[in-house]
Amino acid sequence: MLLSVLPWLLPSALAAQPAAPAPISAPLRDLEIGQLNFLHTTDTHGWLAGHLQEPSFSADWGDYISFASRMREKIEEQGRDLLVIDTGDRVEGNGLYDSSKPKGIYLSEILRHQHIDVITSGNHELYQHNTSEAEFLTTVPNFRASYLASNIDIYHPVTSELVPLAPRYRKFTTKNQGIRIVAFGFLFNFNGNYNNTVVQPVEETIKQAWFQEAIQMTDVDLFLIAGHVPAHSSEYRAIYREIRKFRWSTPIQFFGGHEHIRDYAQYDSKAVALASGRFMETIGFMSIDGLSTSKQPDTSSNPVFKRRYIDNNLFSFYHHTGLDHDSFPTEKGRNVSRLITDARRALRLDTVHGCSPRNLWMSRVPYPHADSIYSWLAKEVLPDSLKDENRGSVPAVAILNTGGIRFDVFKGPFFQDTAFIISPFSNKFRYVKNVPYEKVQLIIEVLNKQKKVLGAPREDVASLDSLAPPEKLSHSSGALSEQESMAAVYGVASHQVPLISRRDDDSIIPGYTTKDDAGTDGDDTIHFPVSYYEVPNVFQALLSADESSPPETVDLVYIEFVEPYLALAAKFARLDADIPKESEEYMPSMGMTELIIDWVQKHWKCE
Ligand SMILES: *[C@@H]1O[C@H](CO)[C@@H](O)[C@H](O)[C@H]1NC(C)=O
Ligand SMILES: *[C@@H]1O[C@H](CO)[C@@H](O)[C@H](O)[C@H]1NC(C)=O
Ligand SMILES: *[C@@H]1O[C@H](CO)[C@@H](O)[C@H](O)[C@H]1NC(C)=O
Repeated sequence: MLLSVLPWLLPSALAAQPAAPAPISAPLRDLEIGQLNFLHTTDTHGWLAGHLQEPSFSADWGDYISFASRMREKIEEQGRDLLVIDTGDRVEGNGLYDSSKPKGIYLSEILRHQHIDVITSGNHELYQHNTSEAEFLTTVPNFRASYLASNIDIYHPVTSELVPLAPRYRKFTTKNQGIRIVAFGFLFNFNGNYNNTVVQPVEETIKQAWFQEAIQMTDVDLFLIAGHVPAHSSEYRAIYREIRKFRWSTPIQFFGGHEHIRDYAQYDSKAVALASGRFMETIGFMSIDGLSTSKQPDTSSNPVFKRRYIDNNLFSFYHHTGLDHDSFPTEKGRNVSRLITDARRALRLDTVHGCSPRNLWMSRVPYPHADSIYSWLAKEVLPDSLKDENRGSVPAVAILNTGGIRFDVFKGPFFQDTAFIISPFSNKFRYVKNVPYEKVQLIIEVLNKQKKVLGAPREDVASLDSLAPPEKLSHSSGALSEQESMAAVYGVASHQVPLISRRDDDSIIPGYTTKDDAGTDGDDTIHFPVSYYEVPNVFQALLSADESSPPETVDLVYIEFVEPYLALAAKFARLDADIPKESEEYMPSMGMTELIIDWVQKHWKCE
């Protein structure tokens, strides 16, 4: 019996962050423990305090440390093995990382306490010169022997020599079963990194001698490929094919991420890939049975893979470990929860700037909509607050990418933390004078069309998809049909359903209802679906002007991030202005995050 219903409500204040809401009981599917078991996180983006306004995801990194340790006890008691994996994008996206000076000093101290067996870099670790150096000088040594970088090099901060960010691969044998594993750590073919790192295309890496030797080693029971790479991707397919040229039947387990979705890919009956969501919402679980081992090397292996996406809350953790609030936490887990509380206090992340009168959604409602976060920005925040003194009342149109906004706003207190969560990028504004309003509209239209409209983008400009939130990426990956991939994001039924806020059944609450290559039974918690709507790549706000009689010419204001795309679209629209040469700063003292905080302080009083 996989399904067990535990219909009690947990008393509150059990979650380790004092401000975290208690999880809500819900029907759960059990974990199926195998010979070899894995716990996986990806794209945590600094959310190590968990979600303080969402009960389903309210456990923190300290709780996860207790969970991994209790699962290990339970699994090792049976003579089996557990490995813990993280596949990158640990940085940027939450005040716990972004608001310290320098960034990340608290985060890396918190992170290091989890025992991780294979850990890799994401693209966010490589955007800035000093972020990748911090990775090289702090995180790599903190996870010595576990950190793998199969296709990333860095110019050494001291010697300036080009060196691997971390070891290319690792061969090890599991403690209890004696499973012989060759593990790699990849990043997708990313080219937005700062020039102190070099990301080698996966297709080139797999031709190199060291990789060829590693995959042709004998006495390997499992190839383990961890990476900041989508589960369904050409990069993983290339690695899969290369291994299968030489090892047609050795089991392969991939772990991936980047798209922020729960996903599972079956490459063949012995090769699968798991992606475990984003933002500490999901702890991915995998088990494999039927592997050969150093003790039983000759069994022809017929592996059985099982996957589960665990909602990151204590209700799930207690259930899967069979423990309760007294027996579950470990001393180390408690210590780390306390570290997080102390860091949040030091960073004043609990400071309340105002109170939101309603929920504002990124993708649970269409755009435009009264409850859309983009409509709120376009109709209220930007017209009220985005003003350049020197431009007086010259009308303007501001263009922002939807991907610059990273999360929903919930009804209730708007914390310092909330500002960093919804707008982690400290982007400033720029503008071009005297642009015909009609041309601005054409530019926006171009930016919101498929990339083919622009022809081949410049080498250094990634596709237009980069303007939208990463969740939208999975739609254009081609791996799933449009409707399936829409469903994959929040696991929504393919047709668009109205926002469900009420409970149809007392024990079932809205959340992930994932559909992947193995079916619809992956989520540990049985939910009913949350609606999902596509949003455009960019949206616009009209400033100092009335929509009913649009001005003839305007200041074309834009957020810095869109500049290279805008320059291309402007050419396409035959705009007679050289961007960025003829652009200037707009409201120079303000970035997007400060602008939002400023508006909330003025407009959203708490009762
Ligand atoms: C990198 O430099 C920026 C700009 O000076 C600073 O805000 C940030 O804290 C630095 N990040 C790290 C990881 O040192
Ligand atoms: C990297 O970019 C900086 C400018 O941001 C430039 O000064 C430097 O020469 C570049 N280094 C290399 C190795 O291309
Ligand atoms: C937890 O913190 C206490 C107090 O700082 C310390 O004495 C103890 O060794 C820590 N325990 C673990 C397992 O880290």
